[in-house]
Amino acid sequence: MGATLEHHEPKRGIISNLKTAFWQFNNTPGQLIPLLQRAQETEGYISEMAMKYISGITEIPESTVYGVITFYRQFRLRPQGEFVVRLCDGTACHVNDSRLLKEIIEDELNLEGSDTTADGLFTLELVACLGCCSLAPVIMVNDQTYGRLTPQTLRKTLKKYRRLGRELIKEREEKCNLEIGA
Ligand code: FES
Repeated sequence: MGATLEHHEPKRGIISNLKTAFWQFNNTPGQLIPLLQRAQETEGYISEMAMKYISGITEIPESTVYGVITFYRQFRLRPQGEFVVRLCDGTACHVNDSRLLKEIIEDELNLEGSDTTADGLFTLELVACLGCCSLAPVIMVNDQTYGRLTPQTLRKTLKKYRRLGRELIKEREEKCNLEIGA
């Protein structure tokens, strides 16, 4: 099995953050969404631990909390990848073949029906207008914008990030080995 960047350990501070938020909201009705937002701000997603904790303090059954998380698109149950690829599907990009770009991204990254790659490196998000329609079709990778994409330039861009990802994994493995050897 290949190296991976997956890290599902709960983030330090999540429980104390949620305790504080619960105290601030003072058990008011409708606190579930703000508590979930706080959990996601802290961890980047909603971990199982956070979900159980929120269910416990609010006395809302876990199945209901889970239902709310999966109902709203803003919430995530898995961490985002190291590189978040935002593919614009606004009108200008849509008429300039953003759907074809989506197929290429899924193929290049082996997404296999998931929004995040198995190695935890990439997450694909479909978004509305990114605000640079004259450059359609457009993607963003983290903070970097790429416009007037063709299948060729898109593949080239993704290859660059896959190379960066491999280097990142290698660096982390070397760091781990150093720490183990220390
Ligand atoms: S529609 Fe894609 S950038 Fe505006």
